[in-house]
Amino acid sequence: MQYQSISPLSKQFLWGAATAAYQCEGAKLEDGKGLSIVDLNINPKFADTSVTTDHYHRYKEDVALMKELGLKAYRFSIAWPRIFPNGDGIINQKGLDFYRNLIDELVKNGIEPLVTLYHFDLPKALQDKYQGWSSRQVIDDFFHFSKTVIDEFSDSVTHWFTINEQSNMFALPYLLVFDENDTRSIEEQKYQMNHYMTVAHAKVVEYCRTQYPSHKIGPAIGLSPYYAASALPEDVLATQVCADFKTYFFMDLYFKGEYKANIWKYILEQGYNLDILEEDLALMKSAKPNLLGINYYQSTMVRACPETEVAQDVAIDENGAKQAIFETAPGRYQVIQNPNLNTTPWGWEIDPIGLRILLNDIYARYPVPIIITENGIGGQESLDENNTVDDSYRIEYLSEHLDALTQSVNDGVDVVGYCPWSFMDLLSTSSGFNKRYGFVYVNRTDKELLDLARYKKKSFYWYQSLIQSATK
Ligand code: BG6
Repeated sequence: MQYQSISPLSKQFLWGAATAAYQCEGAKLEDGKGLSIVDLNINPKFADTSVTTDHYHRYKEDVALMKELGLKAYRFSIAWPRIFPNGDGIINQKGLDFYRNLIDELVKNGIEPLVTLYHFDLPKALQDKYQGWSSRQVIDDFFHFSKTVIDEFSDSVTHWFTINEQSNMFALPYLLVFDENDTRSIEEQKYQMNHYMTVAHAKVVEYCRTQYPSHKIGPAIGLSPYYAASALPEDVLATQVCADFKTYFFMDLYFKGEYKANIWKYILEQGYNLDILEEDLALMKSAKPNLLGINYYQSTMVRACPETEVAQDVAIDENGAKQAIFETAPGRYQVIQNPNLNTTPWGWEIDPIGLRILLNDIYARYPVPIIITENGIGGQESLDENNTVDDSYRIEYLSEHLDALTQSVNDGVDVVGYCPWSFMDLLSTSSGFNKRYGFVYVNRTDKELLDLARYKKKSFYWYQSLIQSATK
């Protein structure tokens, strides 16, 4: 399918691409960097986070490719343990220097840096010290890290994302670490961690909005539209409940600063005894994000679920990786396959119209400017005889999603940027280098480092010409 209708997007539209620190930087323990929980969580069957794509050493070459691609913006994350190897305490100057150099290189090349402050990589030292996100102490430490970074780079960075995919960390608990000695259920621990994360986010938003009023800051959240499996009222109700737990719960915390009534009731019914202070709620109310990052990959179909079903949410695939499955929440909802949609080889449902449905719904409820901070399709790829990759399936996927985005802008939604996942091949969180997302192929496999050379895929040229024609 040919992408045609780019007209409603403004000349300032942020044509971008995204990555995250632990997935592309490598240099896991170099120049003073400390370990993060994600370094430990990545399945050892995959390439580990030691080298990944070696972006730490090759950032200049990578920024040159971004420039050639025509990017106006680049979304990346700053690794907390690179700045504070122990999570708190002494700053690692070499860590700051790396990001200063990267940011300067981007700005020099006319590329707007969009910075994520937390992308799954809590310093391991804080996990060891006080169980990380399970402790109230993390709020102050995250704030201190974020304040350090914002103050340091506020001259060049004006767009900030606090926390990446809080909703998915909640849904896929392998992105967090739980205390084996904690007598509370995993779910109760998750609600507690989620609360501290929300307050930590709010504290950073409040600071940034007060100190840097011209800056934009908000969460980057993984979202999906929810479809009822049928017009049976039971299915429609279950779909509403599912959307409340998976989307509006988080969105209300961020944008209204409050717990949704039905989620609060659920927490009480479960007998969870959460540490939530009046002052937390006051802070959440006063912090007002003025930007929303949305990561969109797929839609979700839902039906009613009897109390008698067995609860389940994560499965282990044949490579030993933990994957999301069709979640069953007895008495609330059950997620099932949508027979109307094609899927990726990993079973992710492909639904461009879902992006328009999602954007229109979210913007109607929470009207702040939106940047699509992730959207893309993973595939198993290797170089062909011409040293490129014919990833026409990716071009089709991105074209159709951009078309939906454009129509959503026509519907009145304020989408100001689009950052496909990912700029270059990187370590997929669930599947290593077996699942590639980039416009740029990186010559390595999970087991062999090879020469890590960069090669432009067919989609690189497609995106380049799209950006050129949209901005001329
Ligand atoms: C998002 C994350 O959930 O999805 C990324 O923010 C991740 O870090 C991306 O890589 C794709 O998921 P996966 O598991 O296919 O790499």
